[in-house]
Amino acid sequence: MSTWREDLGTSNEAISLMQSIFANVSDAILVIDHEGRIVRANAALEQMTGWTEDELIREKHICELCLGMATCMEETSCTDCFFKRVQMPSFEMKLRTKDGRDYPVAASSARLPEESGGKLVMILRDMSAQQRAEKERYQHKLTHFAIQAQEEERKRIARELHDGIGQALYSILVGLNVVRQGNPGEAVMQHVTELVNMTSRAMEEVKRMALELRPSALDDLGLLPALRSLMKRVEKTFHIQVELHVQGEKRRYSAPMETALYRIVQEAMTNTAKYAQASQLGIMFENREKEVVVTIVDDGIGFEVEKTLNFGKGLGVFGMKERAQLLGGTVDIRSAPQEGTTVIVRIPLPEEGILDDDSRLDR
Ligand SMILES: Nc1ncnc2c1ncn2[C@@H]1O[C@H](COP(=O)(O)OP(=O)(O)OP(=O)(O)O)[C@@H](O)[C@H]1O
Ligand SMILES: [Mg+2]
Repeated sequence: MSTWREDLGTSNEAISLMQSIFANVSDAILVIDHEGRIVRANAALEQMTGWTEDELIREKHICELCLGMATCMEETSCTDCFFKRVQMPSFEMKLRTKDGRDYPVAASSARLPEESGGKLVMILRDMSAQQRAEKERYQHKLTHFAIQAQEEERKRIARELHDGIGQALYSILVGLNVVRQGNPGEAVMQHVTELVNMTSRAMEEVKRMALELRPSALDDLGLLPALRSLMKRVEKTFHIQVELHVQGEKRRYSAPMETALYRIVQEAMTNTAKYAQASQLGIMFENREKEVVVTIVDDGIGFEVEKTLNFGKGLGVFGMKERAQLLGGTVDIRSAPQEGTTVIVRIPLPEEGILDDDSRLDR
C-alpha cells in the first residue's frame, strides 16, 4: 500500500482527492499571497462571506475580510496580525461578510515553505452557532440570578412590612384602645375612633402588600395552601369565581419549583383579572409521575397570542416562560378573541434521589 506522501507526489487520484477535500470540507480554507491578496478560496468561504470565488480571488485583500482578531490572551493589533507571522495555531477572528455582518470564526494559519511560494494558508471554522448558544446560556444564568435576587428582596420587604410597620401599627392600635377605655370626652372619643379605623385599614393594607410580595404560607405550608389563599384574594378583589382541582398525591416540591409555580399561576391570574373580563377561572393541578402540570383556564375575551406577545411591552408572560425554562419546563398559552385563555404549565419532577441543587435556596 502506498503512503499518503508518495501518493501526493505522483498520483492524479491524490490530486483530485485533495481538490475534493478543499472543495467539500465545512471549514473555510483560503490562501493568501505575500501582498495579502486572496489567491485561493474554497466553497465554504464563499458560503460564510457571501462573496463568490470571482469576487474573492485576487480582488480582495485579507484586511477587507478581517474585522479584527484575538488570541486567547488578548486583542491583537493590525501591525501584529497573523499575516506577518509564520504560524498561528489558534486564534479568533471576526469575518466581514458581503452584506456587512460580522461573522465569528475560530482560525489557524500556517505559512507554506518557500519552495511552494511561501503563501499563507488559513483555515476558518464557523463559530456563530456556538457563540449564540453561549450567549443564551449566559442570558439564562443572568435571568436565574435576577429572579432569585428578586425573590429574596420580596421576601425581605415582606418581612420588614410584617415585623416593622405591621407591628408598629398594632402597637398604635393597642394604645388607641387604651385611650378609648379611659372614657375621654365625646370629641376626643370620635377622633380616637377615626384613628382606630384608619390604623386598622393601614394594617390590612400592609398585610395585603406583604402577602402579595411573598405569602409566608408558601414557605411554611407549601404551594397548594398558598394558591388557595391567592385564589380567595382574587375572588374577593376582582369578583371572579375561582376553582381549584387537584389530581394526584398532594406533596411538597423543591423551594424553587414551588416559588416558580406560585409566581406563574399568580401572573396568569393577574392577567385574567386585568384583561380577560372573565367571570370564571379554573385551575387544574395535576401531580403526574414525572411532571407537574398546571392548567389555568378563564372564560374571558381572549387575545391573539403571537401578535400580542411579539409586539407587546409586557414582561409577565416572558417571566412565566423564563421561570418554567429554568426548571426544564414550559408554558404554553392558547387563546383567541372571544375564546377565553388557557395557560398550560409543565415542570418535570427531578428523579427520585436526585436532589435539586437549588432546593436549599430560596425557601
Ligand atoms: N387571560 C388573558 N386574557 C386576555 N388577554 C390577556 C390574557 N393574558 C394576557 N393577555 C394579553 O397579553 C398581554 C401580555 O401579557 P403580559 O403578562 O406579558 O404583559 P402585561 O400584563 O401587559 O404587563 P406585565 O405583566 O409586565 O405587568 C397583555 O397585555 C394582554 O393584552
Ligand atoms: Mg401581566
